[in-house]
This record gives sequence, structure tokens and C-alpha cells, in this order.
Amino acid sequence: MRKAKCPVHVAIGERISVAADCHIATVPLHDADSEMPALELCNVRKTYRGAGAPAVNGVTFKIARGEVVGLLGPNGAGKSTTIGLITTRIPVDTGEILVGGRSATRLPTQARAAMGVTGQSNTLDTSCTVRENLYLHCRYHGMSRVASRVRAAQLLDTFGLADKAMVKPPALSGGLARRLQLARAMSHEPRLLLLDEPTNELDALSQTLFWEQIDELRISDNTAVLFATHLLEEAEQHCDRVLIMDHGQLILDGRPDELRRTFRGAHTLTILLRKVVDRSAHTRLQALRNVVRCTINGRTITVLLDSGEVPLHDIAELVQPFGIEEVSTRKASLREIFLDVIDTTVRSL
Ligand SMILES: Nc1ncnc2c1ncn2[C@@H]1O[C@H](COP(=O)(O)OP(=O)(O)OP(=O)(O)O)[C@@H](O)[C@H]1O
Ligand SMILES: [Mg+2]
Repeated sequence: MRKAKCPVHVAIGERISVAADCHIATVPLHDADSEMPALELCNVRKTYRGAGAPAVNGVTFKIARGEVVGLLGPNGAGKSTTIGLITTRIPVDTGEILVGGRSATRLPTQARAAMGVTGQSNTLDTSCTVRENLYLHCRYHGMSRVASRVRAAQLLDTFGLADKAMVKPPALSGGLARRLQLARAMSHEPRLLLLDEPTNELDALSQTLFWEQIDELRISDNTAVLFATHLLEEAEQHCDRVLIMDHGQLILDGRPDELRRTFRGAHTLTILLRKVVDRSAHTRLQALRNVVRCTINGRTITVLLDSGEVPLHDIAELVQPFGIEEVSTRKASLREIFLDVIDTTVRSL
């Protein structure tokens, strides 16, 4: 994937307006009202036929324009179903979904026009070439033939797919197919991107360039992004806000730094020992005051601590027999917050 050079192929007699930054001027805007949130869910519920429990159980949240929001949660939490409900692929049982102020349930075609979507699985058209997949998607979204050709060429270049333009999707590797899906989702410069595990299968460079593309869209078009992911470090790095779901419900909503401040596990103490710790020391550490969670990985102990007083003396006394080699502290990461939140909900069931 490379930065766009914006090659332009315009046939004689065709007219086109291309902005200096290569954003296609003919792309229609999809706002009902530019003051409205990009996305709003109000008490949305979905139970699959024959399922014992709802997959999405009364979910409510808003996403502002230009905001990037990560949707986290363990397998089966309801992330893909939530995205499927927003894209109108899955019918909502009850509740309301507004996209740019428009009801996605009552005006699904208009809502879909404002969205770019990549699903968890490959939904590329296997009968068309890579270039045609992009071109036809642009045409579907009302762009002219010329603008669609320009945009397809630009995306092929940006996503490093130019040398695959004439092949069909089954001949692409997993990562290349994922790049094509992302390129297609962004092709009509939507105001809302819904991405289900977007960077799965992407190599490290492609991931970086993907996020650069997202940043460009945010800056140029104020595009909002909701993306489901299991990559907690990625969410921490790129999200303005994270939503954590479990058992179909939203259990946490906040900015990563805000969560770190208010979360009961405020910071982490890492101790490297000379010998491997036995289970009884682990149990005693876990029972100490202000210790939220203690994990042992070989000779390394990680203690997630509450924002209250740190029981340093007690911890040192317990681990001393194993020989302390190194001690370090840092703020709790989103991963630690996530694990604790999920653990708490699982235990409370
Ligand atoms: N088409 C379907 N029919 C019946 N049940 C389904 C269907 N799709 C998902 N489910 C169930 O709904 C629940 C939520 O699934 P969903 O795919 O939304 O989870 P997820 O958070 O995206 O999980 P993952 O991280 O594994 O992708 C699960 O219990 C799942 O088994
Ligand atoms: Mg999923």
C-alpha cells in the first residue's frame, strides 16, 4: 500500500472535477444535518431466531463526526451483530439507529449511501476483477464513470493493488483481499466507516498505511469510524473512544486516558525475578489490599494496582524469596483494563 499519486485517466470529451487533494468533487454529500451525530443507537436489541439469549441487548451510544471509536469485546460479545444492524444487513428487533440523523431502519438506502463497510468475512465480488470491484462500487454510489475510474485508480495505487488490478479476488492472498475490501469501503468517501476487524491479516506496513488513510479521511471529510477489533494496542493507539461489549451489552464507554484515570486498576507494577514464583505466592499477592489482578508469566509478575495506597512493602516481602532482578511501574494499558472488565462481568454472571 502506497500513498496516492492520483493518476487520472480521462477520456476525450469527458468532464471531471478533481480537488487538489485528489478527493473526487463529484461525490455527493450524505448528511441529513451536519450538526447531527454521525451515528446514534438507542436501546437496540436483536435476538437471532432460535437463540436463547439476545446477541445485542439494549445498546445505546453516539458517535460524533470525525470520531474514531473502537468496539471491543470477547468472542461472541455481539460486535459483528451490532455492526450488521447498523449497516442494515441484519434487521433490528427493537430500538432506533440513526445515521447522520436519518433512521437506518426507515430509510435504509439513504443510510447505506453514507456508509463504507467491511465485514469480518470476505464479501468481494469474485466474478469481477480487482479494478472492477472498486469501479462498480463507486458507480453504485452514484459517482460518474470518469470519477469512478479515477477513484479506482487512486485506490489501487494507495492500497498497493495496481499490479493486481486485472486479477479476480480468489487469486488474492488473505491480506491483499483485505486491502481491497478496505479500499472499496473508502471508495465513495463515506461519512461513516464501519469496519469489522479491519486490520486482520494486514502486514505491519499495510496496517500503518491503513491508519494513515483513516486519518486523511477524518481530516478531509470528518469521517467517523466504528471498528471492531481484538487488537487492544491498536485500539489504544487510534481510538478517541472505546466501547467494550459483553453478552450483547455495552459495559464500558470512554476515552482510553479517561478509562485509565477512573478505572480501579490505575497502574501496573512489573517485577522480574530470578526464580519462577509458586502458586501460593501468587494467591497471597492476589489477596493483598489494592491489588486488582496479579498475573505470572515465567519469572515475570505483573500486578495491576488500584489508585489507592500501593502495598509495596507486602509485595516485596512476598517476592523476596524468589530474588528480585528488576522492578518497573507504568500506567495500566487498555489490555489490562479490558481483561479486568471482562473478568468482572464473567464472574458476576
Ligand atoms: N447468524 C446467526 N444466527 C444465530 N446466532 C448468531 C448468528 N450470528 C451470530 N450469532 C450469535 O450471536 C452472538 C454474537 O455474535 P457476534 O458475531 O455478533 O459476536 P462478535 O462479538 O462479533 O464475536 P467475534 O469476536 O467472535 O467476531 C453469538 O452468541 C453468536 O453465536
Ligand atoms: Mg465478530
